[in-house]
Amino acid sequence: MPLTVSSISLPAAAREIAKPALDGLAVPGSGRLAELPWNWEVWVLVCLGLAVFGYAYGLRRLNPHARSRIFGILRIASFAAGIAALFVALISPLDALDDQLFSAHMVQHLLLMMVAAPLLVCSRPAMAFLWAFPMSTRRVIGRIWIAGGLHRSVTALMSPLAVWLLCSVVLWFWHLPGPYGWALANEGIHTLEHFCFFISALMFWSLVIEPFGRRRLDYGSTLIFVATLGVQNGLLGALLTLAGHPFYGAHFNTTEAWGLTPLEDQQLAGIIMWIPASVIHLTSLGVLFVMWMRHAEREARVAVPSRTRLSSSLAVQRYTTVLAILVTFGLSGCDRHGPASYWAMSGAHADRGPALMQKYGCAACHTIAGVPNARGQVGPPLAQFGRRAFIAGILSNNPDNLVKWLRSPQSVIPGNAMPDTGLTEQDARDIAAYLYGDT
Ligand code: HEC
Repeated sequence: MPLTVSSISLPAAAREIAKPALDGLAVPGSGRLAELPWNWEVWVLVCLGLAVFGYAYGLRRLNPHARSRIFGILRIASFAAGIAALFVALISPLDALDDQLFSAHMVQHLLLMMVAAPLLVCSRPAMAFLWAFPMSTRRVIGRIWIAGGLHRSVTALMSPLAVWLLCSVVLWFWHLPGPYGWALANEGIHTLEHFCFFISALMFWSLVIEPFGRRRLDYGSTLIFVATLGVQNGLLGALLTLAGHPFYGAHFNTTEAWGLTPLEDQQLAGIIMWIPASVIHLTSLGVLFVMWMRHAEREARVAVPSRTRLSSSLAVQRYTTVLAILVTFGLSGCDRHGPASYWAMSGAHADRGPALMQKYGCAACHTIAGVPNARGQVGPPLAQFGRRAFIAGILSNNPDNLVKWLRSPQSVIPGNAMPDTGLTEQDARDIAAYLYGDT
């Protein structure tokens, strides 16, 4: 029943006078939000509940030191905010409103794809969920992950080109009037639509944010990746905003109650898709650019002085930074692991690696290419170490972390099977340089 102004509390006398005029005047929408139901659908609640439980339990099982290093307060807050965004999108009355207003539906999609997805990706949920299981189960999961071919399929699926194509297809397909109408007419298809949006957004943001630090797509290519998908999104938003007639039959009879014509509702949806989404895309581009510059600077600091012994005057440092940026530009796209110099260790002598690893007994536990008789099976083989995302499944793989691990594996994972071997800083750097040199 549409509400009328007369039901809003006006002083009785004024209401009496104005009654005849006000009674005919329906106040669109006002107060009706409160009438919309919450969507307490069991399976959505169970999924959200399981996610929160898995994350919290995983964190609880990690020792406090590892917890604060791998997660920290910001990532945990990011998880909470991501779940809150999912709650608003899927359970609050917004979910019921999306059947009536295209613009509300757009807000819901924006929450799923541009708010919940990046926040959740930042929070490293997969790592926490894994730790929710006991060690033996984690091992089984690891074995299935590798041997069952899952790892290979996910790697293929997460290739930037595949993700780019998937995101483009998902975006355009579900905004065609036909598929959009099917989604509104059938709850199952509606769920599938949201699933497509959410999963493709998680894949997109995983490649953009790379929460574990090891980039599958170098910075230059990531900028192009975000920009080209952002432009498609903006284009669709503009198209909806500027179109002369409404496209979506499903909303022809539902918008009037909210004081909007179907065309106005569509324009509002277009603007929501166009402006806030573009702001998020542009912000990501800005952040990526700053990270790219920082990365190039770090690279220049680590790699260049050790090779050419340039004087470290400020002018020369600036020059090398610019050079490194140009090199990165040149290499972006042709080397998806980034330039090899990223792995270079300043002042390290990779050629000392094999002898050192003999001396410290690494060969007894590890299989190491180029080290005679290093066929140990206690620890993992150390081939092509630079390609690995993690060191011992816990530290993101970079030179500083590798030196830290080699010098004191027991402080990183207390009680693990690799002993502290008393390596000096220099020896650790030489070994790290050797391991990264095997490509
Ligand atoms: C007593 C056996 C043992 C010795 C000696 C040993 N390691 Fe290990 N190493 C291990 C085990 C076991 C792991 C796996 C630890 C884990 O993941 O919890 C490991 C992990 C590693 C890793 C991380 C591998 C990965 O896949 O992430 C590196 C690198 C490594 N060891 C290098 C060395 C070097 C270099 C030496 C010699 C200075 C050495 N290890 C000596 C047993 C050993």
